[in-house]
Amino acid sequence: MQLLVVCLGNICRSPMAEGALRARLQRAGLEHVQVDSAGTGDWHVGEPPDRRAIATAARHGVDIAGLRARQLQAADYRRFDWLLCADLQNLRDVQARRPDGGGARIDLFTRWSGHDLGGGDGAIPDPYTGGEEHFEHVWSVVDAAAGAAVRRLRGAAVSRGRD
Ligand code: 4NP
Repeated sequence: MQLLVVCLGNICRSPMAEGALRARLQRAGLEHVQVDSAGTGDWHVGEPPDRRAIATAARHGVDIAGLRARQLQAADYRRFDWLLCADLQNLRDVQARRPDGGGARIDLFTRWSGHDLGGGDGAIPDPYTGGEEHFEHVWSVVDAAAGAAVRRLRGAAVSRGRD
């Protein structure tokens, strides 16, 4: 199982989601699930996550300082099972760029995980032009969705075991 989290810049939301997912998958013993992240935009390619994203993840015990931004590639649509998008604009962009033969399934990260945001559209709000509290909010959403993702993946492993 290979999951790619996608946002716009790959320096705020998707690296935080990648860090939260890696941490929760490791704690759950689901290390065979592979996680990566990418952005639809190319402005920050090669850069580490935004310092506010690094600081927020670190406050929650997760180190994302070693991640480097990259842009979504055509090959990602073949390599990954799921492309999990941060918001509806990302979702539309990712759907529009699907190459011929790219079989990856595409959804919002929160919707795919089963995390109930309580009536919203499932978008993870872009914190880039916001303050520290916006990053903290993003962490709370991506970490809750990562927890829900672990429950979803555990459920899939259990049903496979029953076959
Ligand atoms: P992200 O946030 O999509 O959560 O990584 C952004 C980072 C950079 C930009 C936009 C959003 N930007 O326009 O440079």
